[in-house]
Amino acid sequence: MDNAKIREAARHLNQSQSLVVLTGAGVSAESGVPTFRDALTGLWAQFDPQQLATPAAFEANPKLVWDWYEYRRDLVSKVKPNAGHYAIAELEDMLPQVVVITQNIDGLHQAAGSSDVITLHGDITRHKCYANCKGDPTLIDIRKLKWGHEAGPPHCPYCDAFVRPDVVWFTERLPVDALDRAFAVSAKADVMLIVGTSGVVQPAAQMPYRAKRFNGGYLIDVNPDQDALTPIIDLHLDAPSGEILPQVIRAMRTSA
Ligand code: OAD
Repeated sequence: MDNAKIREAARHLNQSQSLVVLTGAGVSAESGVPTFRDALTGLWAQFDPQQLATPAAFEANPKLVWDWYEYRRDLVSKVKPNAGHYAIAELEDMLPQVVVITQNIDGLHQAAGSSDVITLHGDITRHKCYANCKGDPTLIDIRKLKWGHEAGPPHCPYCDAFVRPDVVWFTERLPVDALDRAFAVSAKADVMLIVGTSGVVQPAAQMPYRAKRFNGGYLIDVNPDQDALTPIIDLHLDAPSGEILPQVIRAMRTSA
């Protein structure tokens, strides 16, 4: 990687008063979290994840969808944040305002120490009532419920509907508060650090456009490949985030 690009990223980040970090599955790739677009293996190889992650699939076969999420929750519980997550968390100690907007449901930014994380697509470690009987979301702590995991989803203690993971499924709306805040902070961002997203899933992919249009925000993209946001990016760091972000932090410290 060209050192001049790292220094340029560090210079812009050091000047930022309102940084937004927008992340996708790529930031967790070096932790070993499989993405939706990775081929499935083992028991699940015969299924298409896009057909399991929908309300219609859950209604048709609640146990199948529940088991699929239990499997993914188990995978996520075994992985750890990588150097990219830690570098993003470190930015909070260096800059006046840092908000992370993530499409990931793995909780790894929070585990690495980021304190202000907007989870646009939910969190796989949380559960809610399928009917949201006490408002959206009606969160349920499944550790307090008595039921056999092998029996499929437990029932809501308030209304008896099924319990489901608190993640956004295809065809569902994003959580309104998270989305409103993500739009608001993006429109005020002077720098947006975009990490590991293909930039094709809406509305997350609109955030960089908002930063640019409303605040002339400077867009830095960390992705070993080109992605759908490449045409509007100011600076592209084409390397894995776990490698390059710690180098950017070091460059920020030496040039501050
Ligand atoms: P994608 O799987 O679409 O894209 C991941 C991006 O990360 C790709 O552009 C890769 O080139 C890049 N990448 C891979 N390894 C990387 C690394 N080590 N460092 C940096 N970048 C790397 O993931 P998302 O953009 O997050 O939605 O996908 C968005 C949404 O689509 C997901 O949240 C999910 C999915 O369907 C829902 O579940 C609603």
